[in-house]
Amino acid sequence: MFYGKQQEHALLVTILIMLEEFYMQKVILNNGVEMPILGFGVFQVPDPAQCEQAVSEALESGYRLIDTAAAYMNEEAVGAAIKKSGIPREELFITTKLWVQDAGYENAKKAFDVSLKKLGLDYLDLYLIHQPFNDYYGSWRAMEELYKEGKIRAIGVSNFYPDRLVDLILNNEVVPAVNQVETHPFFQQKVAKKVMEEYGVQIQSWGPFAEGQKNIFQNKLLAGIGEKYGKTVAQVILRWHIQRGVVSIPKSVHKERMVENFNVWNFTLSDEDMSAIATMDLGKSEIVDHFTADIAKVLNGWKIHE
Ligand SMILES: NC(=O)c1ccc[n+]([C@@H]2O[C@H](COP(=O)([O-])OP(=O)(O)OC[C@H]3O[C@@H](n4cnc5c(N)ncnc54)[C@H](OP(=O)(O)O)[C@@H]3O)[C@@H](O)[C@H]2O)c1
Repeated sequence: MFYGKQQEHALLVTILIMLEEFYMQKVILNNGVEMPILGFGVFQVPDPAQCEQAVSEALESGYRLIDTAAAYMNEEAVGAAIKKSGIPREELFITTKLWVQDAGYENAKKAFDVSLKKLGLDYLDLYLIHQPFNDYYGSWRAMEELYKEGKIRAIGVSNFYPDRLVDLILNNEVVPAVNQVETHPFFQQKVAKKVMEEYGVQIQSWGPFAEGQKNIFQNKLLAGIGEKYGKTVAQVILRWHIQRGVVSIPKSVHKERMVENFNVWNFTLSDEDMSAIATMDLGKSEIVDHFTADIAKVLNGWKIHE
């Protein structure tokens, strides 16, 4: 059969995506649900057209996990891209999050319906309590019910530090499947990660690139490691997350970066590289400190609807 240059290129891209999907690793959550170890996040992409385009391009690049939140104000755009993609629903893993303002049993149930409607879906793969503030015990009871009714495949939390996570586990029936926390080479969450492992909670990284802070993409140690494998700093960081068993959801609005960030299946960091990156840990966040009074005040005051 004769192919023109464009068709040849399209065929090659399709084959590459199929290969990447084949190699893409998954984690198995504490309820048996499979979750891709690498996904795509859409925080700080509030413009609907830009968000829809970014999610469409991420899906074209091979991502199957999309991470949004009610507070990102872009669930509709994510839903539009999912619909247009034509990808069978069961091949996707869609996460959204319940905002602080909607905490509590009744509010959480309503907020879940609103999110599902905006996304244009009839079930969610993962629903997270976005922040450990307001009546999140009431939220959890609502989420446990939605989970048991089959409307959510897995429920979890985000930004729950060890004390709050363990307290929630000890006082409820369903153990969170996931805890999405800030983690990257500068903030490795070694203690929190151990606690999550002890209780069977999957750690997921937000800000896998430290949101670009501290010139991470120019970091000499990471660049030096990348040179050995012909990989970029971003690819080294994502590979490091994968090898630590951390699910990550890098965000980019540039297709070439989405493709770069997804091309991490064909190399393995040595133990020596992993130990070298371990030395970069500062043991604290420079983005947000969840232990301050200010953060409780700011996040409780952050309204996403009337
Ligand atoms: N649960 C929570 O409280 C919480 C908080 C924050 C984030 N999140 C989730 O985690 C996701 C990821 O975190 P994040 O968006 O905060 O930060 P991030 O993924 O660590 O960093 C995103 C930044 O890196 C840039 N970038 C991406 N790939 C790159 C590459 N290959 N080379 C150079 N620069 C690159 C992006 O720029 P461009 O876009 O211009 O390419 C953007 O400025 C979010 O989108 C969201 O889904 C959750």
